[in-house]
Amino acid sequence: MSKRVEIYAHRGCSGEYPENTLAAFEASCEIGADGIELDVQLTKDGEVVVIHDERIDRTTNGIGFVKDFRYKQLKLFDAGSWFHPKYSRQMIPSLQDVLDLIKTSRPEMKVNIELKNDVLLYEGMEEKVLECIWRSGMADSVILSSFQFKSMGKIRELDNSIQTALLFEGIPSNIIEEARKVRANALHSEASFAISAAGKRVIDAGYPLRVFTVNQTEKLEALARSGVSALITDYPEMFLENKSVPF
Ligand code: G3P
Ligand code: MG
Repeated sequence: MSKRVEIYAHRGCSGEYPENTLAAFEASCEIGADGIELDVQLTKDGEVVVIHDERIDRTTNGIGFVKDFRYKQLKLFDAGSWFHPKYSRQMIPSLQDVLDLIKTSRPEMKVNIELKNDVLLYEGMEEKVLECIWRSGMADSVILSSFQFKSMGKIRELDNSIQTALLFEGIPSNIIEEARKVRANALHSEASFAISAAGKRVIDAGYPLRVFTVNQTEKLEALARSGVSALITDYPEMFLENKSVPF
């Protein structure tokens, strides 16, 4: 019997709401997702903000890099209309805003914070992310992840108990060594890794494996059988409603 696979809402329910907005995270709470995944960047004045890209062009009505705006300026942009005009009042939330929302609405929900520090290195980002988490009292609910493994090592030096995960693409053969080096707790991979021999080794070694970004329910059965802990999907409701799969 497969154990239940947790369902995480990728960038909130980003298939149906503008990604990484409070509307998307509120919807994730309402449908009963086990967790949310979100991406963070750093503003010019050091605020940790929730947005996927280094630039604001794709998901707001503004132009430029997140790092070149103060948070007060960034909040003025419309982060919802690109998705649908009815979301014109959505703005780029701060990490603090999102943690406060989850704490109030669904404190039992997991929050996977992906540090987007693999393109711009964002000096001091780890400290700032941890400050938000400690301030919100949500340390037991969060999982920090990054494609930048060194950053997860730095997190571990700053906080010995917070959950961390290495994010990677493809099928690397040495990922367990990488996880040991930075004392990461878990691994976040693509579906192809999860069903590979390397994926089996990771799961057999006791690392929780969470898989991104899975949007087809047909893939769930094979992933559940291979022992993955969670799926990160743009359509969490579709997976939560699917009764024909092993939950
Ligand atoms: O954290 C998993 C996934 O979000 C990584 O890719 O580009 O969607 O942030 P991306
Ligand atoms: Mg992400």
